[in-house]
Order: sequence, then structure tokens, then C-alpha cells
Amino acid sequence: MANILSAILTKNNHDAAREFATDCASLSESVMTVHDLACGYNGYRAIEGITFDLRAGERVGIVGPNGAGKSTLFKALVGLLPHQGAISIQGASCKDSHAMIGYVPQREAIDQTFPVTVWDVVMMGRARQIGYILLPRKQDRIAVRGALERVGMWPLRKRQIGELSGGQRRRVFVARALAQQASVLLLDEPFSGVDAAAETDIFQVLDVLREEGVAVLLATHNLVQAATHYDKLLLLTNGRMIAFGAPRDIYTPQNLGATFGDRIALFQEGDQYVLVPDKPCHHEDDH
Ligand SMILES: Nc1ncnc2c1ncn2[C@@H]1O[C@H](COP(=O)(O)OP(=O)(O)OP(=O)(O)O)[C@@H](O)[C@H]1O
Ligand SMILES: [Mg+2]
Repeated sequence: MANILSAILTKNNHDAAREFATDCASLSESVMTVHDLACGYNGYRAIEGITFDLRAGERVGIVGPNGAGKSTLFKALVGLLPHQGAISIQGASCKDSHAMIGYVPQREAIDQTFPVTVWDVVMMGRARQIGYILLPRKQDRIAVRGALERVGMWPLRKRQIGELSGGQRRRVFVARALAQQASVLLLDEPFSGVDAAAETDIFQVLDVLREEGVAVLLATHNLVQAATHYDKLLLLTNGRMIAFGAPRDIYTPQNLGATFGDRIALFQEGDQYVLVPDKPCHHEDDH
């Protein structure tokens, strides 16, 4: 049935997620702080009043409906859009620290017909280290190889980027961000269009990044995964923050209602949470 969007969130999952978050928070320090961030397009304010911080090794999900402002927030954080408010990374103002943020956009602007290999794309992540010399050194090649191996794309390193599937291309762009060796990684819907195996691969990469202390901010539409696989969530709707915190603390009917309106509701049945659409989603195919 096309209109079923229900999922079971067990309390056990929540407990595991919370213990996980507590363990990680105790090892970590703040790597990025964002205070009262606002930004938009041609006078239209797409996001405002965004305040949160990211700690070393923390995995934070940005959850909100289409048009909530998730991609706009990423673009502001990496300096692709002018913003108001303060962003600092490891104490430095964002003007100096964009190079410390790796970014995998929702849709890559790269021309798929441009004759560039997987290896070349990942080497682009080393631009900051290569600098004006323009000649990759041994450590750049080692970093590129390591990044490609971590996402399972080393065997395809000589392929043209236009000859990859959508999911393989996403892995290459994750590898490019890894090669950059940034302390903060922003992934805009990294799981859209990837199969279950690639999703598992990406989560394995995220686990390695956690051990290395890299903070990861991900936009996602997967509410169940968000509840169980992330340390904290930022709920966003109409460019405003509804809540920021551990999933167990902020996944309340009030917050979900404020974020998704009447499209989604959360019920508690015994020791389980059930996430269902309040109104069935009718698709043309259903008729
Ligand atoms: N280039 C643009 N010019 C003008 N308005 C834009 C532009 N890009 C996005 N917007 C608007 O800004 C708001 C936030 O868009 P954004 O792309 O950040 O949402 P999102 O949460 O990433 O959505 P999705 O889940 O569909 O990716 C929307 O109202 C959108 O129409
Ligand atoms: Mg988006």
C-alpha cells in the first residue's frame, strides 16, 4: 500500500541511541558553533534564528519537510550564501575556516559529461593541501586512495564520473570530502538514491569518522533512522528551528506536529512508538 509510512521505534532503540550519544558527548568538545544564523535568496529569508553546536565525533541529523531550509543551512555554513549571525569552527570565524568543512551537496553541480575520472574528483578534495604548486604529493595520493577505499570505490578509480550510477557518484563525493580531512562534514541527503549496501557502507564510513573525531551534520528524510542512528537531531520547518537535542528528548508529538504539521503523528503503544501519517498520502497511481 502506497500510503503506509509507518514505523516502529522501540524504546530499546531509543535507550541504545541515548547511551551511544552520552558516550560520545563525554569524549567530545565543541568543533562548530552556530549562533542566530539567518540567510536567504534575493531578499527572501529562507532560514533564521538557527543556533546549535557540533561536538567532535558527533553525528547530527537535520530533519524537516521539503523546503524547510536544510540545504540552505548547509550552503550558509560552507559560505555559498551570505548570512547573518555567527559561525565559528574550532574558535575561528567561518571566514577563515570553510576549508575545514567538507560538503557533499544534495545534487552535484558537476557536469556529468566533463571528462574527469573518479580519482580526479577525489583529488579535488586535496586542493587546499596542494595549494599553488598544483602537483599532488605522495601524502595527497595516500589520502585519495584511503578515501576511495573507505567508500569502496578504489576499484573504479579510473572510471569517468559520467559512467557511474547515481549511488556510486554519491560515494565518490563522500570520498572527496573525506580526502579533504575536514573536521566537520556536511552531507545533504547522502542516502537518497543509494541502495541498502551503499547505505551500510556510508554508515561504516561515518563510524570511522566518529572515531577520528569528525563531526557530521546530515540532512535526512528517514525519520526512523534519524531516531536511532544519530546523537542529536535538529528539527527544522519553514526555516525555523523547532528543536535541537537527543532524539529521545525531542521526538515528541508536539515537536513532530510543529515540524510536519498534520502530515505525521507519533503514538505510543506500550513500549513502542508508532510513526504514522495522520492523513493518508494518496498518489495518482492509487486510483
Ligand atoms: N536558489 C534559490 N532561490 C530562491 N529560493 C530558493 C532557492 N533555493 C531554495 N529556495 C527556497 O528556500 C526554501 C528552503 O529551500 P531548501 O532547498 O533549503 O529546502 P530543503 O529543506 O533542503 O528541502 P528538500 O527536502 O526538498 O531538499 C524553500 O522555500 C525554497 O523554495
Ligand atoms: Mg534540500
